Amino acid sequence: MLAGKRVLLIIGGGIAAYKALELIRGLRKAGASVVPVLTRAGAEFVTPMSVAALAAAKVHTDLFDLTDEAEMGHIQLSRAADLLVVAPATADLMAKMAQGRADDLASTLLLATDKRVLVAPAMNVRMWQHPATRRNLAVLRGDGVLVVGPDDGEMACGEYGPGRMAEPAAVLAAIGAAFGGGPLAGRHVLVTSGPTHEPIDPVRYIANRSSGAQGSALAAAVRDLGARVTFVTGPAAVPPPQGVDVVRVETAAEMLAAVQAALPADAAVMAAAVADWRVANRAGQKMKKDGSGKAPALEFAENPDILAWVAKARTGPGWWSALPPRRRMWWPMPRPSGRARAATGLWRMTYRPRRRSWAAQRMR
Ligand SMILES: Cc1cc2nc3c(=O)[nH]c(=O)nc-3n(C[C@H](O)[C@H](O)[C@H](O)COP(=O)(O)O)c2cc1C
Repeated sequence: MLAGKRVLLIIGGGIAAYKALELIRGLRKAGASVVPVLTRAGAEFVTPMSVAALAAAKVHTDLFDLTDEAEMGHIQLSRAADLLVVAPATADLMAKMAQGRADDLASTLLLATDKRVLVAPAMNVRMWQHPATRRNLAVLRGDGVLVVGPDDGEMACGEYGPGRMAEPAAVLAAIGAAFGGGPLAGRHVLVTSGPTHEPIDPVRYIANRSSGAQGSALAAAVRDLGARVTFVTGPAAVPPPQGVDVVRVETAAEMLAAVQAALPADAAVMAAAVADWRVANRAGQKMKKDGSGKAPALEFAENPDILAWVAKARTGPGWWSALPPRRRMWWPMPRPSGRARAATGLWRMTYRPRRRSWAAQRMR
């Protein structure tokens, strides 16, 4: 999928620059050629020598390098690539891209290109969460820039949270997906995640301890396989992954409606912990103590079983059965027990390769 592709890799000035070295190795192993560009700050973290040695190519650093301009100008450099990848993408580079600035080689290439751009952000958690970075990210997404990561975890600075650059394998997968590759390219996958909140009154609700971590991880994995992902999530503690279509809901009823609206899909992964019951006698106003010492009696009604609904739609004359058999790639697992029963169900992902590619393997 990457064989013969030319990737222009811009390495920004962040601690994660070392991951770019592994990315170069992965790209070359996959048959791609790498045109490396180091920002001035990037060169503080990895040496041009290491980058050039791994890429087996000259490292470009300076916009006003006359030799380069004579051999290949910056416009041509940006156009000759099949894809531009910024890894690590610093807060600074993302800001420049969002503003359309071109005051060094990297930003000029990014502005001059007519190719797709993929960024792998890496920065301190506060920098990532800063409203300015959020704004810049939204602008970049709006401009069609592809984003992979960042991951959650411990930072080099000792803080914890989102901001770690995605691992080179994930960036490689995203690059493959950008070229229209990946086994799920062209597929639409629905993923549900997180808990639901069932209101008691306007300020109280019944919930469960689902963090949404499992659903987020599954959605990211499916995205990395090249699928378009609709991610229907309850109020989760873990943020949704980048690069998926997020639909936020609160209650089980809202989740069912969102799932129905997201169909048709080629596959569904139901990882949400949907409440089994909702409060039937939910109060329209905040319930108050009346001094009698009597606690209010809550009545419950059963919530819709979203998994059962999807499974029924799958076997009925609906969207799923209308799909050709090779597109039906997911089978339900037995209903989980114990704590896991909180989830409406998790479907096992089993990729069934196309007959043609399977046959091709046998012939070899
Ligand atoms: C030790 C050190 C680590 C840094 N790590 C990051 C980082 O991970 N992400 C980031 O956005 N900026 C980081 N910076 C700041 C950038 O290096 C700085 O904003 C620089 O101007 C980025 O230049 P560039 O975007 O042209 O590569 C770091 C700076 C230092 C001194």
